[in-house]
Amino acid sequence: MRNLNKDVMVACDFSSKAEVMDFLDLFTEEKPFVKIGMELYYAEGPDIVRAVKARGHRIFLDLKLHDIPNTVRKAMAVLSALNVDMCNLHAAGTVPMMEEALKGLTRADGTRPLLIAVTQLTSTSEERMREDLLIERPMEEVVMHYASRARAAGLDGVVCSPLEAGKVHDACGSDFLTVTPGVRFADGDKGDQVRVTTPARARELGSDFIVVGRPITQANDPVAAYRRCVREFLG
Ligand code: C5P
Repeated sequence: MRNLNKDVMVACDFSSKAEVMDFLDLFTEEKPFVKIGMELYYAEGPDIVRAVKARGHRIFLDLKLHDIPNTVRKAMAVLSALNVDMCNLHAAGTVPMMEEALKGLTRADGTRPLLIAVTQLTSTSEERMREDLLIERPMEEVVMHYASRARAAGLDGVVCSPLEAGKVHDACGSDFLTVTPGVRFADGDKGDQVRVTTPARARELGSDFIVVGRPITQANDPVAAYRRCVREFLG
């Protein structure tokens, strides 16, 4: 039986429903955990979530909410009703926003999707953090602090680099989820990702979920690439 809290997520970064459906049609034996991001969601609306869910996939809806607590609570209630399995927000929205998000997500029967936080975007450098956000502390300290605030608010985990997964677990506990993009095969093309690790290395570093996009979606044989990821990551 597969551990539900460890898996490979496929980043379905396509711009239309037709492309996603063609891609998912390739998988006749397994149902990968699918990540739906802003581009696809804004192009196709909530129907894309319903359509992928109806095919039996688990879904991480990566919309990174960040607004006042009341607005985030109501928006999260809408996402929860779509029956997604995981969604996320920016920890920068502060603890009250994260707490309201959890309230919005919690369904009448007490169940809810997993909720994870973005700490600092990996596109933000220490210099930009200092100049634009007036945050003077080192990046790692900021990331760990945001993770611990997310933990204090009751969230389930963070998005981070596989290279940070161990430290997040040390600071927030082994059950606090680390969802990690930036994964490439040892013999693969890095594309625009800079600090990358292989699925096997991500496993050693303690990642709970790896998010893999182009190494699977752009592969000549996406199903074989997905299976290789699962094999290397889950063993
Ligand atoms: O194609 P690739 O494997 O690089 O896709 C990685 C996915 O993870 C993309 O959907 C990207 O937006 C997302 N992501 C990331 N780095 C982060 C957060 C999200 O690459 N820090």
